[in-house]
Amino acid sequence: MKMKLLNCMVLFLLFVPYYSSAARTSLKNDLQVHNHLKSLNKPPIKSIKSPDGDMIDCIHLSHQPAFDHPLLRNHTIQLRPNYHPEGLFDDIKVKSLKSSKGSEPIKQLWHLNGECPEGTIPVRRTKKEDVLRASSIKNYGRKKKKNLNILRPNSAQPDLNTQNGHQHAIAYVDEDKYFGAKATMNVWEPKIQQPNEFSLSQIWVLGGSFDGDLNSIEAGWQVSPDLYGDNNTRLFTYWTSDAYEATGCYNLLCSGFIQINNQIAMGASIFPVSSYHGSQFDISILLWKDPNEGNWWMQFGNSNQVIGYWPAYLFSNLADGATLVEWGGEVVNSASDGQHTTTQMGSGHFPGEGFSKASYFRNLQVVDGSNQLRVPRDVKTFTEQSNCYNVQTGKNGQWGTYFYYGGPGRNRNCP
Ligand SMILES: *[C@@H]1O[C@H](CO)[C@@H](O)[C@H](O)[C@H]1NC(C)=O
Ligand SMILES: *[C@@H]1O[C@H](CO)[C@@H](O)[C@H](O)[C@H]1NC(C)=O
Repeated sequence: MKMKLLNCMVLFLLFVPYYSSAARTSLKNDLQVHNHLKSLNKPPIKSIKSPDGDMIDCIHLSHQPAFDHPLLRNHTIQLRPNYHPEGLFDDIKVKSLKSSKGSEPIKQLWHLNGECPEGTIPVRRTKKEDVLRASSIKNYGRKKKKNLNILRPNSAQPDLNTQNGHQHAIAYVDEDKYFGAKATMNVWEPKIQQPNEFSLSQIWVLGGSFDGDLNSIEAGWQVSPDLYGDNNTRLFTYWTSDAYEATGCYNLLCSGFIQINNQIAMGASIFPVSSYHGSQFDISILLWKDPNEGNWWMQFGNSNQVIGYWPAYLFSNLADGATLVEWGGEVVNSASDGQHTTTQMGSGHFPGEGFSKASYFRNLQVVDGSNQLRVPRDVKTFTEQSNCYNVQTGKNGQWGTYFYYGGPGRNRNCP
């Protein structure tokens, strides 16, 4: 009897500290998640519920996350760019091309339920589940370094970590200094095999070396179940100034990008998407450096949709312009079942299928040393496994320099 009681007491003494420390850890996590959400979700002036389940908060311009950064406390927000590059394929031509294909402009889903007033910006509200899906609070909204594989088209042997499984099919230029890039890409909803994979199509503007101080600005569309909790196609941006180490994030998920536009929410769903052998919908993105202030600007669609800018102070190498511009797709192949992923890139079809079946980037342009848009010279292509995802360039009058890219992932020739 005494022995039993002792046993009970020993058990009690053993377990109580265990339970209470676990409870303490979970309380601490709750508090951390709560505080993180509080820092991301600024008090809204108005909120709009999107049909996809998102909440879009209209935040006062000067309350956006960028201004949490100590270096930006005294920053005077720029309400328009001082400089806007002009070029060959202006928006009139793009528009006429669009109407000839009979497509309407792409919208964001939340527009169906309201709009944000002047002087505010629409911000996709981060939910508790969004943060909990990340491997850690710190990693939420960021690219995980260990999964990163940086493309080195410069070297004869690209430095690719195949274990990490990032795969690309891109066109790129690396023989000049670039002060911006533009392209029009059609939008799809690629199937993702599992939540920790993603599929994106974007423009990259890169400066610096790949061993620590790489500066990167990225913008395009993506499907990323882990980041957003669904399979919707979303408009996004990304930036880093230290090769994805400590700085940078997607959208407005850290202090960095300053948004001025009240119509486009970064990270929000866009629609409609293109359908195979059916209607094609495309978006134009322009990234450029203001030659005077040094800020990097982003424009979406036609010229009145200037979204905002990355302040010059964020970057080191991009201050002198970019040394590499890339356009194309990227997916994660986690090969979890020992086979190549079935996650699609672009439309999920190979370039050879052509218009309305394969995904494309058209009217590729770069901003040159005189701050003018021009057709890029010496466009090269790169893909790790052309049997899984491929890329094929072309030139014609209306589309200028263009390429088809993408693929289905796993197939007979990509086991
Ligand atoms: C902002 O302005 C205040 C007052 O003028 C000044 O004391 C402070 O150093 C400035 N901060 C930065 C980061 O420039
Ligand atoms: C996303 O797609 C995958 C398969 O393609 C499916 O298993 C999953 O349920 C989808 N997730 C959501 C939230 O719809």
